[in-house]
Amino acid sequence: MNITIRQGFIQKQRVDVIVVNLFTESKKKILEQTAKHSLPDSIQQAIKLNDFTGAFGQTQLHYTSPKSPFRRVLLVGLGNPKKFDLERARRIAAVSLRELNTMGVSSVATTLASIPQNDQSLQNLVQAFTEGSLLTHYRFEPHRSKQASKGVQKITLLVTEDKELNETKRGLRIGKYVSEGTILARNLVNQPANIITPLALANVAKDLAKKNNSMRCRILNTRSLERLGMGALLSVGQGSRNSPHFIIIDLNSNLKNRPLIFVGKGITFDSGGLSLKSVSGIRTMKYDMAGAGAVIGAMSALSNLNLKQRIIALIPTAENMPDGKSFRPGDVVKTLSGKTIEIISTDAEGRLILADALTYAQKFDPCAVIDLATLTGASITALGHHAACLFSSDDLLANRLIKSGEETHEKLWRLPLWPEYRKQIEGEVADLKNSGGSPGGANTAAALLHEFADGYAWAHIDIAGTATSEQSKYYITKGGVGYGVRLLTHFAQTWSQNLSKI
Ligand code: BES
Ligand code: MN
Ligand code: ZN
Repeated sequence: MNITIRQGFIQKQRVDVIVVNLFTESKKKILEQTAKHSLPDSIQQAIKLNDFTGAFGQTQLHYTSPKSPFRRVLLVGLGNPKKFDLERARRIAAVSLRELNTMGVSSVATTLASIPQNDQSLQNLVQAFTEGSLLTHYRFEPHRSKQASKGVQKITLLVTEDKELNETKRGLRIGKYVSEGTILARNLVNQPANIITPLALANVAKDLAKKNNSMRCRILNTRSLERLGMGALLSVGQGSRNSPHFIIIDLNSNLKNRPLIFVGKGITFDSGGLSLKSVSGIRTMKYDMAGAGAVIGAMSALSNLNLKQRIIALIPTAENMPDGKSFRPGDVVKTLSGKTIEIISTDAEGRLILADALTYAQKFDPCAVIDLATLTGASITALGHHAACLFSSDDLLANRLIKSGEETHEKLWRLPLWPEYRKQIEGEVADLKNSGGSPGGANTAAALLHEFADGYAWAHIDIAGTATSEQSKYYITKGGVGYGVRLLTHFAQTWSQNLSKI
């Protein structure tokens, strides 16, 4: 799908359909607006009769006379102007597209310039609308011999004044990059585990870096991991024929400021290992690299946004399989930090590979480290699918992340890292154990990571509940959601602005 900008008036557009977005304002205002654009009479009737009220998400189709350059007008309700925000902008784009996709239309024109309320910016609105459109249009069908119908192919955003033009251009550009990153993440998450192996994931990162001059990528293979002493990552990967790797993506490595680091859990398939999962538990475990997917997607978006900030992505990646060579419950593994961990369950593998990555992060002297991981079923029990669990050793970092979560509607809710949780993972045979039992399961997993996140501001985001969706809704599509790309991108944008002010 292509979104373009054009300077011009709505009534002159040669397109299949014009989309008119209306608030539930006084009838008079709506009537004025529709009259101004010389739209069909039936629209006036629908409004006067209260058939179209502008309620949020309401849609109504009207037809014009054959003389008009366009034959259809879709009215879309924006709801109460006081309640209008960026998430509503994303959703409105989704509502319109889903409606239009049921018809045989391919080109659409609309205008967004009059929508922003009070202090809202047109740029942000256009960005959100672009995200909503491109993400709704997304389909995952590389493995289908028959592709679904194409739907809307072209959206034209109409502007009149120069100021509108500039803001629209910038919003569209950023929205496209963020959506591209989100779609990359969705594709990686949706690809099956026989295609996205740890090595394949590493190659995706390499290819991404090749396309961008300011990005470097290094891959550590089994030999390098052994030399370094990443015993935890090696243990998790030792039962699979697809050997573990460690991916390092370095954006703006020439900048001398302290880097921001993103860490993503890259378990390409989590069978549970010898602590084998049940039939229902194992079914969706190709998704267990969604943290890695989000981090790679965010790096893609950020590589296009030219921030004056060095950003490094660290991705430990492995496949957790049962085998004669697998690690076992009862084994003791030695992590990169030197600390030892007794394996209670081989299914608590995410925290093990992240432990080594968090230790590795220390050598960059980062200003902050944020990890994303589909880490625990307990985090789904805690918050459902509506927010990810946030744990952090640093209040400023946590609050910035929460703010970015609100702006991008990738919501976070902070949970505690109390010493009581640390107690639950205190080791008996080794320094630590990799499971603290079921009570506070998300917290004890975070407590284990905390042991390794030493020497920098750190945040852990458990995305087990938000990384995938059971059904398509608004701009979310079934399967991989790409959760975290908008969050991390927005966070990095505002974080580096903050740094430049100091
Ligand atoms: N990848 C899973 C967590 C998960 C569960 C993600 C469901 C998405 C949906 C993780 O590796 C895991 O198996 N965690 C265990 C930990 C337990 C053995 C301490 C869990 O949550 O049951
Ligand atoms: Mn597991
Ligand atoms: Zn897992």
